[in-house]
Amino acid sequence: MLDMRVNICGVELKNPVVTASGTFGSGHEYSDFIDLSRLGAVIVKGVADKPWNGNKPPRIAEVYGGMINSVGLQNPGVDYFIKNDIPFLRQFDTKLIVNVCGHTAEEYVNTVKALRQQDVDMIELNISCPNIKAGGMAFGTDCQMAEKVVSEVKKYADKPLIVKLSPNVSDIALIAKAAENGGADAISLINTISAMKIDIYKRKTVLDSKIGGMSGPAIKPIAVRMVYQASKAVNIPIIGLGGISSGEDAIEFIMAGADAVAVGTANFMNPHACIDIIDGIEKYMNDFSVNNLSEIKGCI
Ligand code: FUM
Repeated sequence: MLDMRVNICGVELKNPVVTASGTFGSGHEYSDFIDLSRLGAVIVKGVADKPWNGNKPPRIAEVYGGMINSVGLQNPGVDYFIKNDIPFLRQFDTKLIVNVCGHTAEEYVNTVKALRQQDVDMIELNISCPNIKAGGMAFGTDCQMAEKVVSEVKKYADKPLIVKLSPNVSDIALIAKAAENGGADAISLINTISAMKIDIYKRKTVLDSKIGGMSGPAIKPIAVRMVYQASKAVNIPIIGLGGISSGEDAIEFIMAGADAVAVGTANFMNPHACIDIIDGIEKYMNDFSVNNLSEIKGCI
């Protein structure tokens, strides 16, 4: 009997497909196109203790095999999120994971404290955004800082804590281990890869911020490699992401060692992408007599 359920730190997802933070808002727009109840979980756009305006446009650029963004974590703040987005998402039979962003450890803690006792399933700590001047990736590219901020936030989290890792490091295994040492209950990787696009006719960068983060199918082999390396370094669940666009892509991440997968940029091309990926995983399981994804997790 085919069973697509996966368990991440005691939270049971009906299937391994979740939305990648920052590409799905809080699900409102997508609910016109897909039934959010089919998803394993929704990971929402980063939420901070206060509203953030994000970066100046242009902040999105298309490139071969993907896109570069420098949105700068625009969000309406945790109070708005609690009042409006939690009740909206709770109409659906799916798990809710809140991505939390901050410029400082104190800001992360403020948001996590505000989310205590709220009806959410897990927290994803974003220490990997390349698009803000303070916080974000600055925490996620230094092992000591990563461990420190994770252990600080962990003290206040009353839900399992997933730590989202940056690929912009020389050794992903060390950062993954630092997150685990700090008390992470799970890790997710990879966030976007630092990138730049130049408009040669204007002789300037396309993004106002010059540098942004690249996502999309072209980064998938890098992400698979990093998930594999991280899975060898830690003993906590892994959500793999980076360029997943099909069921076969998702299976690749699971074989590399991921317990679940997040879908991001593909949603912009095809708002039905997550559903197609769930169906694609199911087809693979049927075709190759896989009853449970644990049979192929990390099988390489
Ligand atoms: O700029 C952004 O909002 C991106 C966030 C992230 O990559 O975590």
